[in-house]
Amino acid sequence: MKSREIRLTQHFTGPVKPEYFEMTEVDLPDPQAGQIQVKNAWLSVDPYMRGRMIGIKTYVDPFQVGQPMEGGAVGQVVKSNAEGFSEGDWVMSMNGWREGWTASAEGVTKIDTNLLPAEAYLGIAGLTGMTAYVGIKKMIGLKEGETLWMSAGAGAVGSAGIQFAKAMGAKVLATAGGDEKTAFCKELGADAVVDYKAVDDLSAAVREAAKPLGGIDAYFENVGGDHLQAALDAIKAHGRMAVCGMIARYNDNEPLPGPTNLTQIVAKKLTLQGFIVSDHFDVYSDFVSDLSNWMMAGKVKTRDTVFEGIDKTPDAFMGLFTGANIGKMLVKL
Ligand SMILES: NC(=O)c1ccc[n+]([C@@H]2O[C@H](COP(=O)([O-])OP(=O)(O)OC[C@H]3O[C@@H](n4cnc5c(N)ncnc54)[C@H](OP(=O)(O)O)[C@@H]3O)[C@@H](O)[C@H]2O)c1
Repeated sequence: MKSREIRLTQHFTGPVKPEYFEMTEVDLPDPQAGQIQVKNAWLSVDPYMRGRMIGIKTYVDPFQVGQPMEGGAVGQVVKSNAEGFSEGDWVMSMNGWREGWTASAEGVTKIDTNLLPAEAYLGIAGLTGMTAYVGIKKMIGLKEGETLWMSAGAGAVGSAGIQFAKAMGAKVLATAGGDEKTAFCKELGADAVVDYKAVDDLSAAVREAAKPLGGIDAYFENVGGDHLQAALDAIKAHGRMAVCGMIARYNDNEPLPGPTNLTQIVAKKLTLQGFIVSDHFDVYSDFVSDLSNWMMAGKVKTRDTVFEGIDKTPDAFMGLFTGANIGKMLVKL
């Protein structure tokens, strides 16, 4: 079987450009003992991948130049030489950015496509949903009746988070860029929505919109920059923040000064908790159980933005930084 794959041409800082990616075709070997050969059907592109393109080790190793990159993928087993895997099985792996692969079956998870569509395991029922769940439930400990500000509300984590917080009995203020995205946040159940691109003073706009909700008790940080500055200003005393990501900063050429109002952390006695989802599999079974209940009760819906073809994977990835997605950004092969 032949497979086309996307490789990184160089490590870089600053905005992502098409020339940092190249596509190569390879012949896949037959699986050795313990290996399987898989034809990917869906690939995930995620903002955290940007950090792996800089070339320095953070909480995860950098991508290697000239090698296929890694990322979430779901597909079907074509050939198996591993116990427990048969031709036709649907599996989830980290062997993304490529059409197919032959590799060890270790760490590969079988998925049930009778339960949910395959691509949902890269979105709400996968690490994306789990990220929203960990942030809201474990980092913030959101309580019924409280108000959560969900930033990047129309994105993958954000759209899951709005619905999870509502299902937990909380109120939600969402921020997102543009009319279509703000309408989507409302459709998901957000009680108030602010289009951050349409306001001059984000803090004032959020405070005003949060008044009928009793103010902001907790903030889910996906963006950084002006959003963090506004959140520090707008949040109530004893507020809690789950610091999940800061996408507005990932393409910086050099470190920029942080918010000018960090003293609010002291004055308001705030709690800021950063987290990486993969450290929190202790709540995975709670996540699956809550998500199943919410789905059966019709409280959770999904929306994806889909690019088609392996050659479009870099475009899908770059689109995360221009806001090209509503819901989860995916590539269909
Ligand atoms: N800690 C963890 O374990 C973990 C796991 C998964 C994800 N994350 C983080 O969670 C956040 C959301 O990830 P996701 O996968 O759900 O992505 P996403 O929200 O689906 O996509 C990114 C969105 O970010 C917004 N954005 C991009 N550049 C921006 C900028 N300069 N200023 C303001 N908004 C900007 C855009 O929405 P608008 O058009 O509305 O601006 C864009 O659609 C990211 O920060 C990511 O790194 C963390």
